[in-house]
Amino acid sequence: MRKNIVAGNWKMNTTFQEAEELIENIIEKLETEGTKSDVVVCPPALYLEMVSDYDNEAKNTLSVGAQNVSEHEKGAFTGEISAAMLASMDVQYCIIGHSERRKYFGETGKQLAEKTERLLDHAIRPIFCCGELLEEREAGNHFQVVEKQIEEALFHLSEDEFSNVVIAYEPVWAIGTGKTATAGQAQEMHAFIRGLLKNKYGAGVAENTTILYGGSCNAQNARELFANPDVDGGLIGGASLKADDFIAIANSF
Ligand code: PGA
Repeated sequence: MRKNIVAGNWKMNTTFQEAEELIENIIEKLETEGTKSDVVVCPPALYLEMVSDYDNEAKNTLSVGAQNVSEHEKGAFTGEISAAMLASMDVQYCIIGHSERRKYFGETGKQLAEKTERLLDHAIRPIFCCGELLEEREAGNHFQVVEKQIEEALFHLSEDEFSNVVIAYEPVWAIGTGKTATAGQAQEMHAFIRGLLKNKYGAGVAENTTILYGGSCNAQNARELFANPDVDGGLIGGASLKADDFIAIANSF
């Protein structure tokens, strides 16, 4: 089902105490100001339970997401976290294929296809990230790159399975750089992605898919980005670490 979603990717930031303070502030703001979108918080895995407990006390004002999952179901994979473990902690979403994981941890399309399956097996909604490097955009290959990433990781899914996937378009040159895609560049790519989904799964699925924009999205530029017909919200990094900014973004519709 297509929704307006604003998801905060805390990445490898915050100590436990800082995380508690941040989630308290986010929940307080949500309770006083309300929100025009579905808010998802993706803290480091160690804090998932703490965030989920705060949210339960606050009567489900937000959803909890993980930042990564193993492609394996279970077993001897030291240090990894499985989809079954996330599901048993009431995690509802999981980011996969973030460009930092592709770059620093060598994640491939095949692995991401497997991670997607593990998550769907456990009723967790993948937030699948795709996006081109600066040199790929400059060479005019950005559409091709994004198409390949989506095809490799998602197009083995049935229509039913796919209906649980959220896509996040994150041009790599815009992540953490302060250099946002223009509203026009975001809309152009989001419309292209929706077109791919229409060709593969039909108009109904394409229209119902939530497609988020990520990359230096902040309280100042969110409104212009979200005003685009094919931009359904954002995946927010840096600005999700400040409750005021994050909730301002969640209300930029
Ligand atoms: P940023 O990160 O908002 O700090 O650019 C976005 C992301 O990496 O998801």
